[in-house]
Amino acid sequence: MTVSENKILVTGGTGLVGTHLLFELCSGGRKVRAIRRQGSQVELVRKLFTWYDPEKGEELFSGIEWVDADLNDIISLKEALSGVDYVYHCAAMVSFLPEDRQMMLKVNVEGTANLVNMAMATGIRKFCHCSSVAAIGKPDRGNRIDESLVWKTSAANSWYAISKYGSEREVWRASEEGLNVVIVNPSVVIGPGDPGRSSAQLYQSVKNGLKFYTGGVTGFVDVRDVAAAMVRLMESHLSGERFILSAENLPYKTLFEYFAKYSESRPPRYKAGRFLSEMAWRMEKVRSFITGQKPLITRETARNANTKRYFSHEKIRKAIGFEFRPIEDSAENTSRFFRKYPVYLSPDFRMNTN
Ligand SMILES: NC(=O)c1ccc[n+]([C@@H]2O[C@H](COP(=O)([O-])OP(=O)(O)OC[C@H]3O[C@@H](n4cnc5c(N)ncnc54)[C@H](OP(=O)(O)O)[C@@H]3O)[C@@H](O)[C@H]2O)c1
Repeated sequence: MTVSENKILVTGGTGLVGTHLLFELCSGGRKVRAIRRQGSQVELVRKLFTWYDPEKGEELFSGIEWVDADLNDIISLKEALSGVDYVYHCAAMVSFLPEDRQMMLKVNVEGTANLVNMAMATGIRKFCHCSSVAAIGKPDRGNRIDESLVWKTSAANSWYAISKYGSEREVWRASEEGLNVVIVNPSVVIGPGDPGRSSAQLYQSVKNGLKFYTGGVTGFVDVRDVAAAMVRLMESHLSGERFILSAENLPYKTLFEYFAKYSESRPPRYKAGRFLSEMAWRMEKVRSFITGQKPLITRETARNANTKRYFSHEKIRKAIGFEFRPIEDSAENTSRFFRKYPVYLSPDFRMNTN
């Protein structure tokens, strides 16, 4: 049976990573089913397809079989997996808001457990899980991180990290029970997507005149590379392993400068040290309490933004010879999309596009 004859299920296909994965799969002629929920931004998926491929994007998009399913609804997962050979799991809740903790654990940990259990029950041939570098944990000494690091419980772990660690653990458990799995751990993913919830928020902040930058350093990866690496790993003989996907380790300041360059905005000029960041999240908490609006930064995001972490991508380079795009390209790609479709930067774009 050739790759294109197998049925593939993608979860999280309406998110930043999932949309680009759908495009990668459909462009390669594969048969794809994707899950959606009420309120999912399917129109944004269509827009990105036609933007990446003005000639064939619409046709590729119409080849996707959409099914309604939720990670926390086992019956819907069973239906979604019917007749499927391969699963890419990109759905997750990404939040740093304290009030989202319980729901995030339910979606990311329990939801992943539901999916892998059902995948084993229905005889899935291979399962590719989109984890995160957050699930790898923090080193005791130094700040270099590779796949061999062992997670340690610590008060410094964000709830998002805890939920992604719990989610990845469910996939390892299924692997022990016989599921053929491969796991990717992307660093901060850069690309065009819903700025209301993905890392496209960073682009929007610069475009909106962000004044401050922090001293943190982290890994960044282009969303198109995440999609391509997932497909190459799924279609390889590799199994029972995880791979960090991270192109470059950069100061946040450099990423902001790239975004500013391609969106013709001014990059942030003032450095916010730890003291200022600690003040800022507390003030945001008060503002959010008074106004009822979501805080722009939280304790977890403020602390992350001041931390220096360096991720190694040697394992995937050696395993499949994968080469990453420079992050300046990712910033340019993101900026080009939003310059063409500025409506997606408006807070009420959902109303404008549906
Ligand atoms: N973005 C990053 O920088 C980054 C970095 C490292 C790892 N990751 C990981 O990459 C994956 C994708 O992230 P992303 O940035 O693409 O996130 P995203 O843009 O926020 O998309 C999340 C996706 O998950 C779906 N989803 C959420 N809850 C669900 C549920 N209960 N049932 C079914 N689907 C549900 C959403 O569907 P709706 O459209 O219906 O809401 C959406 O398709 C996640 O596992 C994330 O942890 C992301």
